[in-house]
Amino acid sequence: MHFQAKLLATAVAWGLATAAPAAAGLDTEAASNSAARTLGCGLRDFWRFASTLSHQAEVYFPGSAQFAQYNERWSNVEPPAVNITILPATEQDVVEIVKIASGCNIPFLAYNGKHGATTTLGRMDWGIAINLRKLSSVVIAPTGDKVTVGGGTNSKVLIDALWDAGKQTVTGSCECVSYMGPALGGGHGWLQGHHGLIGDQFLEMNVVLANGTLKTINANSDLWWAMNGAGHNFGIVTSVTSSIYPIAHANWAIETIMFTGDKVNAVYQAVNDHLHNNQPVGLVEWSYWMNIPEISPSPVIELYIIQEGVTVVDPIYTAPFHALGPVSATPRTGTYRDMSGWVGIALDGPPCQKTGAANPRFPIYLPAYNATAQEEVYAAFAAATAAPGSPFANSLFLFEGYSTQGVAAVDPLSSAFAFRDDNLLLAPLITYTPAGAARDLQAKQLGNQLRQILHNGSGRSQMHTYVNYAYGDESTEQLYGHEQWRQTKLAALKTKYDPNGRFSFYAPAV
Ligand SMILES: Cc1cc2nc3c(=O)[nH]c(=O)nc-3n(C[C@H](O)[C@H](O)[C@H](O)COP(=O)(O)OP(=O)(O)OC[C@H]3O[C@@H](n4cnc5c(N)ncnc54)[C@H](O)[C@@H]3O)c2cc1C
Ligand SMILES: *[C@@H]1O[C@H](CO)[C@@H](O)[C@H](O)[C@H]1NC(C)=O
Ligand SMILES: *[C@@H]1O[C@H](CO)[C@@H](O)[C@H](O)[C@H]1NC(C)=O
Ligand SMILES: *[C@@H]1O[C@H](CO)[C@@H](O)[C@H](O)[C@H]1NC(C)=O
Ligand SMILES: *[C@@H]1O[C@H](CO)[C@@H](O)[C@H](O)[C@H]1NC(C)=O
Repeated sequence: MHFQAKLLATAVAWGLATAAPAAAGLDTEAASNSAARTLGCGLRDFWRFASTLSHQAEVYFPGSAQFAQYNERWSNVEPPAVNITILPATEQDVVEIVKIASGCNIPFLAYNGKHGATTTLGRMDWGIAINLRKLSSVVIAPTGDKVTVGGGTNSKVLIDALWDAGKQTVTGSCECVSYMGPALGGGHGWLQGHHGLIGDQFLEMNVVLANGTLKTINANSDLWWAMNGAGHNFGIVTSVTSSIYPIAHANWAIETIMFTGDKVNAVYQAVNDHLHNNQPVGLVEWSYWMNIPEISPSPVIELYIIQEGVTVVDPIYTAPFHALGPVSATPRTGTYRDMSGWVGIALDGPPCQKTGAANPRFPIYLPAYNATAQEEVYAAFAAATAAPGSPFANSLFLFEGYSTQGVAAVDPLSSAFAFRDDNLLLAPLITYTPAGAARDLQAKQLGNQLRQILHNGSGRSQMHTYVNYAYGDESTEQLYGHEQWRQTKLAALKTKYDPNGRFSFYAPAV
C-alpha cells in the first residue's frame, strides 16, 4: 500500500477528528469478515484497512488534490457524496474493499468515467468511492475473436487498441465514457446496427458481488440476463470478455446539415421518410438542437447523416434535405475513429469536459418521429432556452437514430434490456450552472415537460426510457420494461444477489 506521507498525515488527522458514523456498527455479515473484526468498522479505520490492499492501490481523503480531482463529475445535480476515494489496483483489492464496506454497512459506489448523472446517485450521502481507473487493460485473444477488457477501461482506449489490431466492436460512441458504464445498461454505439448492443457482445465476466464474492459468469449463470441492461445493480465488473470483429469498413463519411427552427416539421418528416424508412445497417442519423445566436435567435437544428464504407454520403439520403433549404451542408470524409469528433463527443469535445455544470437528461425511446410533436417540442425548447438571460441557454436536445438491425435481432427475452423494438433515443440535456434547489426544480420541470410532449406525440400509454440517460424520477417499468415478468425476474435476482441494496444508487431496479 503506497501512501504519500502527507496523505497519511491527512488521513490520520481526519480520522481522529471524525466520530465513527452511526450506521457503521458491526452486523452479521461483518461478524464473518475478519478484516472488519480486526480493523473496526468506522470510516476512521480505513487508513489502517488500506494497508491490506496491494502496493499499487491508492487511498485519498477530503482535503487532498487527488480526492478533489477524482470526485469531479460530469453532472452536478444530486451527485453522490463520499468520504474516501480508493483506487484498487487489482481485482482482489475490489474484493477486499467490497467485503469490508458491505460488512460494515458503509455505502460504496464504483466510479469509472464519472458520467453517471442520474439523480438517484444523490441517495449516496456518505461512503466510499471505488475508482476503477487502475483496472484499465485490453487483451486481445490469440484467436482474434474476443477481447478481455479491464473494468475501468475508457472507451477510447479500447477503440484504439482494437483498431491497431485491425479489429472493432460495439462501444459507446463517445470517447470519454468508460466501456463498462454504458455496457451494463445495454449500451448504444455506432456499430450496433451490425452486432447489437454493447452488452450483447459479452461472453464472460468477472464480477464482485455485494458480499465480496468474486464470480466468473457466462450465459450459464442466472445473473447473465441481468448484466446486459440492469448490470449496475448487481456487482462491480472487474473484467469482461467481449466479441470483436475484423474492421469491416475503415472509411466513413458524414454530412452535417444545419437548419433554422422554422424547418423543424419538414426536417423530421423527411428523416422519417428518407432515412428511417428502410434504414440500412451502415447508416446513422443524429441531430442536435442548440443555441447559436450568431446564426439564429432560436435553436438551430444540426442534422448528421453518417454512412459507412463511402467517401461521400449517398445523395439519395442527403438530397431530400438539400431541397429543404438548409443554412449549410458540410460533407466530411474520414475513418471510423473520426466520427465522435464529427458529432462533438471526442475527448476534447465540449460534452466531454467536467466543467462543474449540472447536466440532467430526460430520455425517451420512440419508434419514429412525429413531425407535429417535434414542432411542438421545438417551440417549448426554444421558449425556455433561447429567451434572453435563460440559465438553460447551453442546453442541447439530442436525437439519436442509430441503425437497429443488430439490436432487434437479439432475442428480447434474453436480456434485461427491454426496448429492442425502439428506433430512436431522444433526450433534452438541460445544461446549467448549479444555483440551488429552485433552479434544479425548474430544470426538472422543463425536461419533463419536453419529454412529455414527445411521449404524447407517440400515442403510447407507456413511456420507454434509457437507464444510462435517466433523470432519476423514472419508474422501474420505464427503465427496465413494462412486462410484469421483467419486473418479477429483476426483483428475484436482486433479492438473491444484492439483498441489502448495496448496488442501488445508479438507476435502481427495485
Ligand atoms: C458525453 C456523453 C456521451 C455518452 N455517450 C454514450 C454512448 O455513446 N452510448 C451510450 O450507451 N451511452 C452514452 N452515454 C451515457 C453513458 O452510458 C452513461 O453516462 C454512463 O453512466 C457512463 O459511464 P461512466 O463510467 O462514464 O460513468 P460513471 O459515473 O463512472 O459510471 C456510471 C455507473 O456505472 C456503474 N459502473 C461503472 N463501472 C462499473 C463497473 N466496472 N462495474 C459495475 N458498475 C460499474 C456505477 O454504478 C456507476 O455509478 C454518454 C454520456 C455522456 C455524458
Ligand atoms: C461524509 O461526507 C459527507 C459529505 O461531504 C458529510 O456530510 C459527512 O458528514 C461525512 N461523514 C463522515 C462520517 O465523515
Ligand atoms: C400530454 O397530454 C395530456 C393529455 O392530453 C395533456 O393533459 C398534457 O398537457 C400533455 N402534456 C404536454 C406537456 O403537452
Ligand atoms: C403526433 O403528435 C400530435 C401532437 O401531440 C398528436 O396530436 C398526434 O396524434 C400524433 N400523431 C400520431 C400518429 O400519433
Ligand atoms: C455471496 O452471495 C452469493 C450470491 O448470492 C452466494 O452464492 C455466496 O454463497 C455468498 N457468499 C458468502 C460468503 O456469503
